[in-house]
Amino acid sequence: MRTRSYLRPGAVKPRRLPGPVARAQVRPLVRQEGLPKLPVPPLKQTCENYLAALEPIVSGEELGHTRKLVEEFLRGGVGDRLQKGLERRARKTDNWLSEWWMQSAYLDCRMPVAVYTSPGVVLPRMRFQDRQGQMRFAAKLIAGVLEFKKLIDSDTLPTEYLSKKPLCMDQYNQILSSCRIPGTKRDTVLNQPFGKTPPTHITVVHNFQFFVLDVYNSDGTPLTVDQIYMQLEKIWNTSLQTNKEPVGILTSQHRNTWGKAYNNLVKDKTNKESVRAIQKSIFTVCLDAPMPRVSDELYKSRVAAQMLHGGGARWNSGNRWFDKTLQFIVGEDGTCGLVYEHAPSEGPPIVFLIDYVVKYIMVHDLDVNVLMFPDYGKNVPKQHNLSPDAFIQMAFQLAYFRMYGICCATYESASLRMFKYGRTDVLRVTTKESLKFVQAMQDPTKQNTERLALLQKAAQRHKENAYNAIHGQAIDRHLLGLRLQAIEDLTSMPEIFMDTSFAVAHHYNILTSQVGSKTDCVMSFGPMVPDGYGVCYNPMDEHINIAITAFNSCEETNAAKYANTVNDALLDMRALLEDTAPAER
Ligand code: COA
Repeated sequence: MRTRSYLRPGAVKPRRLPGPVARAQVRPLVRQEGLPKLPVPPLKQTCENYLAALEPIVSGEELGHTRKLVEEFLRGGVGDRLQKGLERRARKTDNWLSEWWMQSAYLDCRMPVAVYTSPGVVLPRMRFQDRQGQMRFAAKLIAGVLEFKKLIDSDTLPTEYLSKKPLCMDQYNQILSSCRIPGTKRDTVLNQPFGKTPPTHITVVHNFQFFVLDVYNSDGTPLTVDQIYMQLEKIWNTSLQTNKEPVGILTSQHRNTWGKAYNNLVKDKTNKESVRAIQKSIFTVCLDAPMPRVSDELYKSRVAAQMLHGGGARWNSGNRWFDKTLQFIVGEDGTCGLVYEHAPSEGPPIVFLIDYVVKYIMVHDLDVNVLMFPDYGKNVPKQHNLSPDAFIQMAFQLAYFRMYGICCATYESASLRMFKYGRTDVLRVTTKESLKFVQAMQDPTKQNTERLALLQKAAQRHKENAYNAIHGQAIDRHLLGLRLQAIEDLTSMPEIFMDTSFAVAHHYNILTSQVGSKTDCVMSFGPMVPDGYGVCYNPMDEHINIAITAFNSCEETNAAKYANTVNDALLDMRALLEDTAPAER
């Protein structure tokens, strides 16, 4: 069988440092006890908010029909029964949602992980221009991540806060020594940090060939930058051949296809051991081959694509193991970043790790050259007493309305990490108020004072919705829970979940996420639907980094055009503020 030979012979070459390798002492984070449990929101509240969310995106007729279905759902007893089931589940588990969420949002999803779910992060371009620079940078980066690992292992990571409340830190336990494993119907996640023999190696991939690199000395101390550099040199020199099968590209396939190929692959003992070594490794470093040179203008988009999918089979897509939770990517031309498999963690713990590592490898090396809106950042909305997040989201709304003449369901990730094992819920951005604002911006009969008042109202509504979402009172996960409860109870699916409005409400043409960091970087991810946009943004004080994606196969979407329209919307909105209201300094 063709797949049997993919990894053989010697695609993974264990390279061990002389002497036995001591096992690092690893223990779990233990600050979770005080965290509250994720609540189940009141049923009536979710139903009312669901109808309100539909108002700006469905017709009056559809809304009327859905209103009746919602009334039946509330009065007929079905809603109450499902709600009680959810409340029972909430009493019995640490988090009624987390397992269902991991399963339904990630592990049951059969689309490829590359582009569809795995975000890529572009780091500022480094100054190195050759192989030595690439190796030295990769060595520093590895040492930096190992330093960060010490903080996780010793439980000394500072607790994070949102609105002055401590956040669940459990996701930090999931990002290292972790990997997704494909199945023919559903996937699983292997997470390895607390076993008796925690892994002490990373995997390095160069020219499509995978290497195991032990990164601890026999006394348990991590290798120094120089030691790692020497090992990387050896790896580089033993993988000069470029004619190897790009076995890693299998991991970019549709999950059912990859699941079948995987089962065949691991029938072979050597392959099984090799794959296991990748899965258990602390993380992966991809030393990429040079990509085609492009103009400075196109450089940022080219790097974003390299991080998201490797640039295709001819370039670096085979130089990855897309199932691996964390893969750092270092090219010869100063390109660097990472791609991460989303199932075990959200973006913020990943960027926190990046901030730490970038600081570790010295910030003055940086050449700031990333996707950015240069004119202003959080400062301007703050000076005008507006939430920066709400303001930027209104710019995304305005740009979309200008391009399409309508509003669409818009998803913003809101953190649920105030709750034990919390992940995210949806902050629905499109509201009655946002619709009125974007309509007024396009209506020549409206005065700027009226537009500003509508912007303030829309931003205020967004802020309230954000507050409710992070306090566990949004509607999406609750509706999902009620649906899954119906499946678990084997009752027939209530009609509100089969209604057109329900489909419209969940067809998120704009998928957004704020992933803020101190480092001047930007994360990117693909759209959620074929005719949608993926928008990840990092609002810095004086500028905003925004990465926008769309599928080439869709004629209606165009990432560059949407990005330009967002740029103009942000400029017009600042002009509106300056024209109408003096800034507070
Ligand atoms: N006037 C002046 N300043 C204001 C303001 C106003 N009306 N409203 C807010 N601000 C300030 C805030 O105090 C804050 O100040 P800081 O920069 O000193 O901290 C800053 O503006 C940012 O606040 P805001 O823009 O409102 O957003 P936020 O930081 O509260 O973030 C969410 C909102 C929804 C993004 C956040 O709650 C969240 O959930 N983040 C996680 C998302 C996530 O998990 N993404 C990854 C998914 S993979």
